[in-house]
Amino acid sequence: MTQIIDGKAISAQIKDELKEKVTNMKKDDITLCLAVIQVGNDPASSVYVGNKKKACEYIGIESLAYELDENTTQDELLDLIHELNKRKDVNGILVQLPLPKHIDEDMIIRAIDPSKDVDGFHPQSVGALCIGQKGFVSCTPAGIIQLLKRSGIEIAGKECVIIGRSNIVGKPMSLLLLRENGTVTVAHSKTENLKEVAKRADILVVAVGRPKMITREYVKEGAVVIDVGIHRNENNKLCGDVDYDDVAPICSAITPVPGGVGPMTIAMLMNNCVESAHLNS
Ligand code: GUN
Repeated sequence: MTQIIDGKAISAQIKDELKEKVTNMKKDDITLCLAVIQVGNDPASSVYVGNKKKACEYIGIESLAYELDENTTQDELLDLIHELNKRKDVNGILVQLPLPKHIDEDMIIRAIDPSKDVDGFHPQSVGALCIGQKGFVSCTPAGIIQLLKRSGIEIAGKECVIIGRSNIVGKPMSLLLLRENGTVTVAHSKTENLKEVAKRADILVVAVGRPKMITREYVKEGAVVIDVGIHRNENNKLCGDVDYDDVAPICSAITPVPGGVGPMTIAMLMNNCVESAHLNS
């Protein structure tokens, strides 16, 4: 029987653990506050930002929402980040991506104080992860490690193949699986014989951004399959990068879309906020 990895239930469990921690921190007068900045009104970003605010409310973290006009200049955004960096009452700063084209994303990410970088995107956070030092870890890959661990899936010694090499998912995922003693391969759009490479995996993490691309031809029987993609298909139904109906019967465990990796990203963001409050207090 294939194990369906329930990201909704696991993220709810993590959020409840965090809520309890936050209640105890408040007794010690430790306050938590996340600043969320959105520039423009991309509809998908508005949904994500709304969900982040709701999660903060549930856990007991104060959130400051900055909904800035599409025409906000890079200097105005930098000024706001510098102000939030200085504020002692703000533990975490998150700038929702993508930003409008006239703003240099890398420069904005570098402006955030690494001790408040709850997204884990700052080069210092990424560098720390790379050499096994403390720092914030990008939320989606951190959430995938939690999904695996809390589902009783062993990583150490296993063949892990990641398809996709983005800065937000693929690269940090490779470092985290390596940290857990997996044997890691990162495949991408230029990889030759992708099907054969993917078929080596005991744990296959798919973050390619193409709906239902991964069929059972890419999957070894008994593998664990983690699907990071989220798309709307021709019938307006959500689907992932993995052809779930084709792949699920042959693997040992799989994440559904929706309700797999997605809910974990916010849970790990909340976890980073709680850690940040510890760091800054
Ligand atoms: N846009 C899509 N995913 C993310 C994320 O995890 N963090 C931020 N800041 N922007 C995003």
